[in-house]
Amino acid sequence: MSNKPIVLVTRKLPLAVEDRLRRDYDPRFNEEDRLYPSDELIQRAAGAHAILACHTERLSAEIIARLPDSIRAIANFSVGVDHVDLAAAKARAIVVTNTPDVLSDATAELTILLMLGAARRASEGERLVRAGEWNTWSPSFMVGIQVTGKRLGIIGMGRVGHVTARRARGFDMEIHYSDVRRLPSDREAGAIYHETTEDLLPHCDFLALHCPATPETRHLLNAERIALLPDGAIVVNAARGSIVDETALIDALKSGKLAAAGLDVYENEPNINPAFRDIRNTFLLPHIGSATRETRDAMGFRALENLDAIFAGREPRDRVA
Ligand code: DGY
Repeated sequence: MSNKPIVLVTRKLPLAVEDRLRRDYDPRFNEEDRLYPSDELIQRAAGAHAILACHTERLSAEIIARLPDSIRAIANFSVGVDHVDLAAAKARAIVVTNTPDVLSDATAELTILLMLGAARRASEGERLVRAGEWNTWSPSFMVGIQVTGKRLGIIGMGRVGHVTARRARGFDMEIHYSDVRRLPSDREAGAIYHETTEDLLPHCDFLALHCPATPETRHLLNAERIALLPDGAIVVNAARGSIVDETALIDALKSGKLAAAGLDVYENEPNINPAFRDIRNTFLLPHIGSATRETRDAMGFRALENLDAIFAGREPRDRVA
């Protein structure tokens, strides 16, 4: 019998990451990449020492309370940890980790894609061409909004926000941001700080959300705050759906208060509010911010580094609980 730690791996991981798990752990893989119902997840965790989880697993207080005593760690394959009740894990002395840094480039890249896609009406244009319905060209055909030189407001100037700002400077955008604290000036690189979200919003031709999903940021972008944006602003979200009051966003897109939205994340994934699909001025992606080969490998190896530390009795680099 192997004396390697047993790891319940909840979803299919990149091959190289699974190989490394086979080498150093006793993994229980999910070959079919099925989303385990909570009861099944708890059963499969029996006798395991760690769970390598994704944001698709809702590890609520109730579920954490039912995990077997053998579980010492939840190593997330994600930077976001809103799917885990951290206080409940802490109460059971289960160490929780995430995978910061390694997905900042991919997610910032996708944020730029959301801005471009929403501003330049990429969904509408692509649909037209694919449906064989493109039958004209004129100076007034499919006119969108230029990104170059506009003001970009970023809520949450952490790792991803920071890279998004760098990429956006390539489009000569003027960067504004709000965060709990101001960055040192060398990190700010000319970005204009606003102490509150309310101060920031009137300066945003584009607004990108990059703050974590917490009880405090739930519905942070609501009807009152959308009203503070300039008319015709564009909102993009590659962070978490819960940060936006989707009803308010949909109303603003329908009324024309907002010109467009680019969304990669939604309150209820994958069963998104159907109104998003029906509105012309949305550019919609299926939560793929970190979905590049390079980044998915790096996320897996980072999760393993955290497990390595935990089972070697060291403090893991990315402990969040
Ligand atoms: C993250 O890492 O939080 C991404 O959203 C994928 O889960």
